[in-house]
Amino acid sequence: MSQRLAILHVAAEIYPLVKTGGLADVVAALPVAQAAAGDDVRIVLPGYPQVLDAVQRQRTVVEIGACFGALRVRLVSARLPGSALPCYVIDSPWLYRRPGGPYQAPDGEAWGDNVQRFGLLGWVAAHLAAGDADPSWSPQVLHAHDWHAALACTYLDHRASTGRASVYTVHNLAYQGLFPMQDAGLLGLPANLMSPAGLEYHGQLSFMKAGLKFADRITTVSPSYAREIATHEFGAGLDGVIRARADDVSGILNGIDTAVWNPATDPAIATRYDAERLQGKADCRAALQREMDLADDAQAMLVTVVSRLTSQKGMDLVLAALPELVARGVQFAVQGAGDAALETAFRIAAQAHPGRVAVEVGYDEARAHRLIAGADAIAVPSRFEPCGLTQMYGLRYGTLPIVRRVGGLADTVVDASPQALAGGTATGFQFEAATPAAFAAAVDAARALRRDAAAWRTVMHRAMAQDFAWAVPTREYRALYERALGAAPR
Ligand code: ADP
Ligand code: GLC
Repeated sequence: MSQRLAILHVAAEIYPLVKTGGLADVVAALPVAQAAAGDDVRIVLPGYPQVLDAVQRQRTVVEIGACFGALRVRLVSARLPGSALPCYVIDSPWLYRRPGGPYQAPDGEAWGDNVQRFGLLGWVAAHLAAGDADPSWSPQVLHAHDWHAALACTYLDHRASTGRASVYTVHNLAYQGLFPMQDAGLLGLPANLMSPAGLEYHGQLSFMKAGLKFADRITTVSPSYAREIATHEFGAGLDGVIRARADDVSGILNGIDTAVWNPATDPAIATRYDAERLQGKADCRAALQREMDLADDAQAMLVTVVSRLTSQKGMDLVLAALPELVARGVQFAVQGAGDAALETAFRIAAQAHPGRVAVEVGYDEARAHRLIAGADAIAVPSRFEPCGLTQMYGLRYGTLPIVRRVGGLADTVVDASPQALAGGTATGFQFEAATPAAFAAAVDAARALRRDAAAWRTVMHRAMAQDFAWAVPTREYRALYERALGAAPR
């Protein structure tokens, strides 16, 4: 058996305490899966009130004092509620204790001091990784997630650490953490790093580059996205940086939390079900139609969307195709929040199609479960999608995904082509072009299959049998860590 590894995750959100997207789901599940597999895993988080007020068994590890613009910074060790995973929380009321989101004020503007807020996260994580923040524990692997945590890789590299490896996971290359270059002085890093060879991106300071340039290994959350980000089309201006590190970049498909997302035990849904007891799904569908004021229509195909409302997610394709699809009898149940213009457009669509289109603007975890359980299909028409979790939730709930053939969507859904149907491998519907017509054609393909109840049930069974548990990605990360440690100077 291989040796137990000490692993420190660094992240800015974690389900259910602070969540803006799938990052929080991954950060909640991967470390727990790694601990269950036998490794010694901890996580370091910013001390937002939602975190500090929830974690248990708090103990001061070290009083750090004044830094990053805060008068008082303290490192706390604790346990996460629920999983009891050991965690470190950075207690700095000045930087983190405020109402609003992790990145934005309640008015939607980015916090003006995000350089300090996430600079501090990276700096503390690097000290933990180097072994000089907590005398009783230090990790062999530092695993940083997204731009908020990326500076950990740079601070650690700058300390010329030995025998430790850093891994940087890109969950979404589109969010890069760009700041005015004059803010670089707040980070205490050498001035020569503030060049295009270092953290500079077209005159700005890029946190994303702090990970891409300095981590020992770079991963992203699906094999397809790992290939895509090396291209101009998906590289978000960083494809050159990524190509330069081609040997160190790989894709590991996310898992899903099969305890949280399980139709057989889900406390949020009307009736629990599984592949052998599908009457429960029919009950969930009827309950959803009632809850969302949709017509009680057994013929209609009920399509759900549970999504951030942004251009990434291709929501404009749904809006443009919606009138003709509704005219063909399709029902839509949408829950999302994000761009104000998209929120308004969905509200207007609901008003225009009472009983056929229902829209909830906002964020509601329990309703997301009811939408995914009750719908026939889930639409994920993203322009790009690093991994995507909702299509996997859909598969597990027998709610067939209708997805654009891109990123993690391409890697998780098998299109119901004639060959795939004949071979018994189909699990959903894919389309290629990012156009309303291509999306509508995929919805039509789903409608056509649904008219054949036996064929639809066969695909549902296949979908529900897919295994997206964290066990496989956990092994893949383990192998990657071992390779990174093998290559690290000792
Ligand atoms: P992304 O992280 O890009 O938003 P993912 O598919 O990886 O996309 O993860 C999205 C996560 O956020 C899923 O857990 C999904 O259920 C959840 N989610 C997105 N929008 C909402 C919403 N309006 N209400 C509840 N949950 C939502
Ligand atoms: C990002 C991506 C999404 C991915 C999630 C978790 O938010 O947009 O595709 O599933 O991170 O890795």
